[in-house]
Amino acid sequence: MDGNGRWAARRGLPRIAGHRAGAESVRRVVEAAPGLGIGVLTLYAFSSDNWKRPPEEVAALMELFRRHLLSELDRLRANGVRVEIIGRRDRLPAGLAAAVEAAEAATADGRVLRLRIAVDYSARESIARAARHLAEPTTESLAALLGPPVDLLIRTGGEQRLSDFLLWECAYAELIFSERMWPDFGEQDLRAALREFTGRERRFGALPSAAACGSEPPPVRASLRA
Ligand code: IPE
Ligand code: MG
Repeated sequence: MDGNGRWAARRGLPRIAGHRAGAESVRRVVEAAPGLGIGVLTLYAFSSDNWKRPPEEVAALMELFRRHLLSELDRLRANGVRVEIIGRRDRLPAGLAAAVEAAEAATADGRVLRLRIAVDYSARESIARAARHLAEPTTESLAALLGPPVDLLIRTGGEQRLSDFLLWECAYAELIFSERMWPDFGEQDLRAALREFTGRERRFGALPSAAACGSEPPPVRASLRA
């Protein structure tokens, strides 16, 4: 979900106006995702490095997350969305931490879409934390503590980097970089990215013929990078 600030600056608006428009984009994409075959969607909302931003912007973002989570709750529940927040929780403002708990509890039995929102998230920190829980970390035991493997990662806003997002889970992700600023990203862009994804040959290190012997492709686990 990158590009909110630039979207706003191009319109002569304050950065927070871009974040508000970005929240509208989240709603559109979350509503479109199940119809496009997406079962797991991870959104990068706030990275652990985003604390380096000016305190006013950080505070406004935290308040926007809190309000958006609560105001979307009924809709998310009605649509069968299960919300899950990934990242550290101990540094979130108390009001946001409470909203996160409420949203997770209220949507726990959603089965249509697993919506994972990364807030105060760092992939390196998640991997280190998982490793600390294991006497003998192996690729299997670490994978069990981390998130599901990502099939498709889309980063908006024209940057071409991962910025500490799902580094483990993206081992074999297909990467798509879009010039679109996040507030302008919509269902048609998502459809186009999925079309491109479907056209790619995924070999997972094997040879083309061996890869083609697999059965049905798994449902897409898209990740939209903030
Ligand atoms: C992404 O938009 C939203 C967050 C990181 C919270 P940016 O704020 O990174 O927007 P740009 O990159 O400055 O345009
Ligand atoms: Mg950015």
